[in-house]
Amino acid sequence: MKLERIFPGVWRLEDKILTKSLAPGKKVYGEKVIKIDGVEYRVWNPYRSKLGAAIKNGLKHWFFRRDGTVLYLGVAEGTTASHIADAMEEGVIFGVDVAPRVMPKLLKVSEDWNLILPILADANKPEEYREYIEAVGGKVDVIYEDVAHPDQTKILIKNAEEYLKPGGHAYYAVKARSIDVTKDPKVVFKEEKKKLEDAGFEVLQEIDLEPYEKDHVMFVLRWKG
Ligand SMILES: C[S@@+](CC[C@H](N)C(=O)[O-])C[C@H]1O[C@@H](n2cnc3c(N)ncnc32)[C@H](O)[C@@H]1O
Repeated sequence: MKLERIFPGVWRLEDKILTKSLAPGKKVYGEKVIKIDGVEYRVWNPYRSKLGAAIKNGLKHWFFRRDGTVLYLGVAEGTTASHIADAMEEGVIFGVDVAPRVMPKLLKVSEDWNLILPILADANKPEEYREYIEAVGGKVDVIYEDVAHPDQTKILIKNAEEYLKPGGHAYYAVKARSIDVTKDPKVVFKEEKKKLEDAGFEVLQEIDLEPYEKDHVMFVLRWKG
């Protein structure tokens, strides 16, 4: 079996994407695990994670550096965040979610994937988690957003203005139907892209997430600075 390294901490094995598990013997979402030369890897399911889908569909940019700082908006139960944590190995992922129901599972996941710091808060009110970001100097390297909310673009821009380092990066999963169910998704993506550019983001890549997610794209962005 030949492992091909595609990003720091991320490998390809035939048609599968893998991350080296930070918690051998444990699983987060029922994912498959594979042992190679005594090392345990977790198979990243692109149907369960939009970042996994983006990788399968040709993601070119990986900004999750070892020992970096990530603000993750809409972390849910930590499915995607756990793979990012595997890849980073060290650093911190501020995992924000507004839903109390996801917290018990997320807290459990964060015991083993301990880069993840669960925060129960509304991403539309960035001041709610200012104290946490202050602890790392007030700015992060990367924002990841996947919130399925009508104002999702505004939420990303607000958080970038508060907390993203100049020249920092964002991964933004856009669900067209959350923004406007009546519009052609292509029109929605074009309009959101314009809002991002007007706010000071450079769009590095726009990835259609079909067939893993219908009417979704992932924008990879660079913040002004
Ligand atoms: C599609 S799920 C995220 C899945 C997750 N990103 C993953 O890949 O593992 C969207 C999440 O956004 C959260 N959410 C929605 N509105 C939010 C808000 N205003 N602030 C924070 N989280 C929010 C929901 O509670 C839900 O858990």
